[in-house]
Amino acid sequence: MDKNAAQLVGADQFRLGMRSLAAAVTLITTAHAGHRYGMTATAVTSVSAEPPALLVCVNRKASTHDAIGKSRMFCINVLRAEHVELSRAFSGTQSGEDRFRSEDWTRLATGAPVLVDALVSFDCRVEKEFAHGTHTLFIGSVEHIVAGKKGRSLLYTDGQYGKLATLGERVLPGELPDSLDWI
Ligand SMILES: Cc1cc2nc3c(=O)[nH]c(=O)nc-3n(C[C@H](O)[C@H](O)[C@H](O)COP(=O)(O)O)c2cc1C
Repeated sequence: MDKNAAQLVGADQFRLGMRSLAAAVTLITTAHAGHRYGMTATAVTSVSAEPPALLVCVNRKASTHDAIGKSRMFCINVLRAEHVELSRAFSGTQSGEDRFRSEDWTRLATGAPVLVDALVSFDCRVEKEFAHGTHTLFIGSVEHIVAGKKGRSLLYTDGQYGKLATLGERVLPGELPDSLDWI
């Protein structure tokens, strides 16, 4: 496809195409100047295992964006299938500190909020960032990983939440008994 043809793709068409991409739902959290910030995110991906690094793509308009920029840290909390309401709270039905009220949170190496009963949480320090269009891509070096509570991943596809019925409960710490800490 030539360059001009690529430019004919509009944002709505792009979003429509992306609805087919099933993704695990996470909460990206951070803290700055005594306040906690967090948002629902699916644009999360592994960058490298050596060194352990993850990428998150955050809209510059999201309240969490500038807080990550200033604090230079974030935690990626991978949600369980039971966390649909929590995901909704962190994507708009609640705001600010109210997003954190319904669950238990702790802190690890960086000080970013860690969801106590997430499937797994990755505590990261911002290593690099790149601006692209409406978003900033933050690459975080993973300083600590904890398993919260076993369960199934919360998935998002075609504008709906779901879980894979064919997958059993995820028992990550059981598979790697000496490698991950429980909260
Ligand atoms: C399932 C789902 C996935 C989302 N993934 C992202 C994402 O990866 N990056 C992003 O910037 N916003 C994403 N959003 C939107 C943000 O959650 C939302 O804009 C943000 O929470 C707004 O926060 P604010 O009210 O604090 O500004 C997603 C929303 C939903 C419902």
